[in-house]
Amino acid sequence: MNTVAKPAITLALSKGRIFDETLPLLKAAGITVLEDPEKSRKLILPTSNPDLQVVLVRASDVPTYVQYGGADLGVTGKDTLIEHGGQGLYQPLDLQIARCRVSVAVRADFDYASAVRQGARLKVATKYVSIARDFFAAKGVHVDLIKLYGSMELAPLTGLADAIVDLVSTGNTLKANHLVEVERIMDISSRLVVNQAALKLKQEPIRHLIDVFTKTVNATP
Ligand code: PRP
Ligand code: MG
Repeated sequence: MNTVAKPAITLALSKGRIFDETLPLLKAAGITVLEDPEKSRKLILPTSNPDLQVVLVRASDVPTYVQYGGADLGVTGKDTLIEHGGQGLYQPLDLQIARCRVSVAVRADFDYASAVRQGARLKVATKYVSIARDFFAAKGVHVDLIKLYGSMELAPLTGLADAIVDLVSTGNTLKANHLVEVERIMDISSRLVVNQAALKLKQEPIRHLIDVFTKTVNATP
């Protein structure tokens, strides 16, 4: 069989904020990623450490890659981790990066408070079905959940839903689409996740990375 030599450790990241905000942590471990994912179409990125490669996957796929050993470790948002369930993942560290929140938002002209008070059944569009289900169940609000994969803000504008459950960071997307945040469900940041078998088999290099990341996170104000 023709196999390609694989570096000792594979780290799964997603493009955008998680990739960008993981770079300083890698740098603290003396590691630079040798290609820019915004310029290259490559999905496997070599690093200055021949024993570590980065693979680029969709944000929602990071826990799955790590769970099944397609990557030894990964960086993923708490939101994504909750939706995945976290099975098979060791979660040693909150990296405190890519911070945002999960919130409920509605059209500015929708009276959410009275709809809830009157016990109305709400149509809620979201990518975060588990988070939304648990949140509204705990409040005793009946909801019909509509699963979407992006552009959630469009749902209340088109009549698809009364409300959305989505990530809010600057709030600019809500504002640009005339939506208002009516509940904050939880604060989000990204975590390091590790494949449990890899942690045993590749203990030394993985522990080293966890140690450096931990020191760097603790030293960051
Ligand atoms: C995310 C999120 C919000 C927006 C929040 O969307 O779903 O729409 O960013 O950021 P803000 O508060 O700073 O405006 P993203 O751009 O990732 O697209 P998607 O939801 O279509 O995947
Ligand atoms: Mg969005």
